[in-house]
Amino acid sequence: GPSCVFIRSMSLRLGEISLVEKAKRAAAYKAVDEHFPADAKVVGIGSGSTVIYAVERIAQLAELRGIDLSKVTFVPTGFQSKQLIIGAGLNVASIDQFSVGDLDIVIDGADEVDDSLNCIKGGGACLFQEKLVGQCARKFVIVADSSKKSHKLGSKWIQGVPIEVIPMAYPKVEADLLRLGAKQITLRQGGKAKAGPVVTDNGNFILDTHFGSIEPSEVRNLDIKIKLLVGVVETGLFDYGAVAYFGETDGTASTFTR
Ligand code: 5RP
Repeated sequence: GPSCVFIRSMSLRLGEISLVEKAKRAAAYKAVDEHFPADAKVVGIGSGSTVIYAVERIAQLAELRGIDLSKVTFVPTGFQSKQLIIGAGLNVASIDQFSVGDLDIVIDGADEVDDSLNCIKGGGACLFQEKLVGQCARKFVIVADSSKKSHKLGSKWIQGVPIEVIPMAYPKVEADLLRLGAKQITLRQGGKAKAGPVVTDNGNFILDTHFGSIEPSEVRNLDIKIKLLVGVVETGLFDYGAVAYFGETDGTASTFTR
């Protein structure tokens, strides 16, 4: 079944949200306030727990800025994202109705973001659709709490680079990745009843791989090398971030532009 499901981790204290949630919310609200175009037509919605707050803020825009949301179409990046859009009462469409340049913006989370706004994504296994939607958008806006900020991708050893692979090819791709210098490779587990590999929204597996820290200038090269391996569907390396919003636990957010 779809693995791309996120549960908002709320603090148990009555009505209060935890500090990290406050940081995520600050980033998402500010990104929507500063980047949601008044005349938006098609908007991409990424995946993850931070994007939940972006959709929450978008739903308030009718009242806050008088934006007619019935004129906007939202494109999801996976099962969770689609549920989120529908749940907020917004119009949902599918990415196969659009092509390069058709989306005004996409707002998406990230697992690690470097100084050049390259990022690692795929913590929720939605990397393929996120990249597809991202490449159809004219602007890629990243929202995250500030703990995701990193000088070099991989230096925090958060989760490494997720790679989506065709299931029958995973042992072969593992061997290829070792040859490319991967220091650690794990077939992501925790699918249904935690009794097997995670299966993506596209029916594939995820290999979590560590390459140590990656120079910002090397991200694209590594992405290309991995992508060339037979069996690889997509990598979690994204090199086209345009703007990033990092939220702090005090409820403020700072912004970085490439
Ligand atoms: C899913 C992703 C998410 O955007 C990423 O994992 C960030 O999630 P969160 O906002 O919950 O930290 O890439 O594939």
